[in-house]
Amino acid sequence: MTGATGNIGGKVLTRLYAAGHKVRALTRDPSRARLPEGVDVVAADLGDPATLPAALEGVNKVFLMSLGHNKSSHDAHLVAAAQQAGVTHIVQLSTLGVEEVDEENDTPLGRWHRMAERALTESAVGWTILRPNGFMTHALGWAPGVRGESVVRSPIADLAEALVAPEDIADVAVRALTTDGHEGVAYALTGPEALTTRQQVAVLGEVLGRPLRFEQISLEEHHAVLAARYSQETADGVVKALRTALESGDDFRGRVFPGVEQALGAPGRTFRQWATEHAHAFR
Ligand SMILES: NC(=O)c1ccc[n+]([C@@H]2O[C@H](COP(=O)([O-])OP(=O)(O)OC[C@H]3O[C@@H](n4cnc5c(N)ncnc54)[C@H](OP(=O)(O)O)[C@@H]3O)[C@@H](O)[C@H]2O)c1
Repeated sequence: MTGATGNIGGKVLTRLYAAGHKVRALTRDPSRARLPEGVDVVAADLGDPATLPAALEGVNKVFLMSLGHNKSSHDAHLVAAAQQAGVTHIVQLSTLGVEEVDEENDTPLGRWHRMAERALTESAVGWTILRPNGFMTHALGWAPGVRGESVVRSPIADLAEALVAPEDIADVAVRALTTDGHEGVAYALTGPEALTTRQQVAVLGEVLGRPLRFEQISLEEHHAVLAARYSQETADGVVKALRTALESGDDFRGRVFPGVEQALGAPGRTFRQWATEHAHAFR
């Protein structure tokens, strides 16, 4: 497992562990990884190919995620080492848009994911690709403003997005890792409805039982927030993708895709369900 200390990977790990699967977690710093007892933790870095062969010894399946502008090289390193180690199947976290946008119109974000997918599909390793839309967990970034001032600040106001709950992505990943019939399949993963940010804020207010105010901020202000957390290149890439989405009339982010239902046999969580499950974070 890559990303086992992170958002999606953490949920995949919890599910695999609870079901009794033998799991090895790859992290750059095992001393900081707080993982359940019994999980085999190895130190490795996707940016340092020399660390990967030992991490992959005896492994037959991999959950692969990586971040930002390093995604294509990091995934290529892992795929090459996995092929060498005899791994049979990789479930790769990619993004919605790889199929929906022509290569010549790719944003940097799209290109990083397209190249990462290519490294996997052109290898000899079996694959399943997960292409999620934006995560509902973005709303957790609103929590301090909601708690302190009952306000949500976002550069996106009226763009409809069929956001997906990370819990559903993790469920699909586990299904693909532990059951047959997912090899060679790319799942487009969205929630069952498209909501604008203003609509999400209204739903969150209803769930919390108090009205919330929405304030639109500029993409430049949003860039500053991202740059404080990620690399400059990653912040640039995310803002470029957002600008493209805001300027395009017919954006794929507003379409509901059937991937969650195809993989799990039931539609994913609505934003209301997700907000209800996470209401404590906003109180
Ligand atoms: N956010 C969205 O709306 C969205 C939409 C579509 C697709 N996606 C995809 O989802 C990904 C984000 O998933 P997430 O939210 O689960 O990420 P996350 O929680 O931010 O990821 C953090 C994880 O990345 C690992 N990591 C970072 N650098 C590493 C390196 N050099 N080597 C090994 N591991 C490294 C960390 O491991 P350690 O710190 O333990 O080493 C940690 O487990 C994006 O990159 C994108 O591909 C996101």
